[in-house]
Amino acid sequence: MKIRTTVAIVGAGPAGLLLGHLLAASGIDFVIIEARSREYILSRIRAGVLEESSVDVLASLGLDGRLREHGLVHDGIYLQYEGTRHHVDFSELIGRTVTVYGQQQVVNDLMLAHDEAGSAVYFGSSDVLPWGIETPRPSVNFVHGGQSYSVDADFVIGADGFHGVCRSIIPSGAITSYQREYPFAWLGILADVPPSTDELIYALHPEGFAMHSMRSPSVSRLYLQVEPDDDIAQWSDERIWEGLHERLGVEGWTLREGEITEKSITPMRSFVASTLNHGALFLVGDAGHIVPPTGAKGLNAAISDVAMLGAALSSYYAGDAGSLAGYSGRALSRQWKTQYFSRWMTEMLHTTGTGAEAQSRYRGQIGQLDYVTGSRFALQGLAEQYTGLPIDGI
Ligand code: PHB
Repeated sequence: MKIRTTVAIVGAGPAGLLLGHLLAASGIDFVIIEARSREYILSRIRAGVLEESSVDVLASLGLDGRLREHGLVHDGIYLQYEGTRHHVDFSELIGRTVTVYGQQQVVNDLMLAHDEAGSAVYFGSSDVLPWGIETPRPSVNFVHGGQSYSVDADFVIGADGFHGVCRSIIPSGAITSYQREYPFAWLGILADVPPSTDELIYALHPEGFAMHSMRSPSVSRLYLQVEPDDDIAQWSDERIWEGLHERLGVEGWTLREGEITEKSITPMRSFVASTLNHGALFLVGDAGHIVPPTGAKGLNAAISDVAMLGAALSSYYAGDAGSLAGYSGRALSRQWKTQYFSRWMTEMLHTTGTGAEAQSRYRGQIGQLDYVTGSRFALQGLAEQYTGLPIDGI
């Protein structure tokens, strides 16, 4: 079956779904094609912190109803090392905040709004293949419900994640990947227990990084640094809590335990594509870049890409093509700053190596943390980046 639309979006994660809403607000037609089922996408546990600018983007579309009701506004974070917890008060330092609200909840809100609008979203599609991106009439082929479809569009948007098909169809001579693997991973758990802290705790400990986050007043999210090849089967609930108590413990504070409802290990990598645009194809979110999760930038970077691209497409159809031509450069410029911040946070807070070199590195990290927590300038820099840099061009 042939379908004609204006923008064909591949991927119904937060980036693709949000772009659909931005386009709809400008009266631009779109179709979203997604290989996974709706249930699968809603079941993926991902990040949980929204920058102030991400909240603003959702609010500008009236998609912030549940977010305002259930999101937890946080004034800052704690940085912890050598048994001491230091409060970094973003509100006081720069007058900005972040909102703790799970990616799953964001995705759920976006899906419900698409249901209400009657948007064309094809979940559970197979054989998804964009083609003709070097022509003015690109198309996306896919099979849905046993029927073959071909969507003709002006533009194809790759919102299909790091492993998605869209980036892979850019000719290899036209794109370079900048990649970096880290020698550690995160073991993450969800536990049915009220958070033991009012704000997120990022802790450096000689045994490795640990973090206390949350999803709601009754659900905690906690992380432990583990080996990249660690096997989750080796981590009993008891061993996980033991590690969390050891690494997060400070005098006079107790970590509450609860039933662990989910646990998994995520590798950590940095990746940036050299371009987010080839012909009629534009990449957004994880399809174009990945950051390690320290600092919670992945979802926010996807939102900022989409905000920039949505504005550029809107200008394009209002007769100004310049903004769209500059999308890749603007998004990558912000992304490289995000890469820098995520790497800085990651390397400041994770342990690596063995023996004398590891000890020297650890002492250096303490020096770095002493400097950061003791300097208002450094704290303001952290606060500025954590709460989110401006989104250019929106
Ligand atoms: C989370 O809640 O999953 C989370 C929060 C902050 C981070 C990373 C992950 O830096």
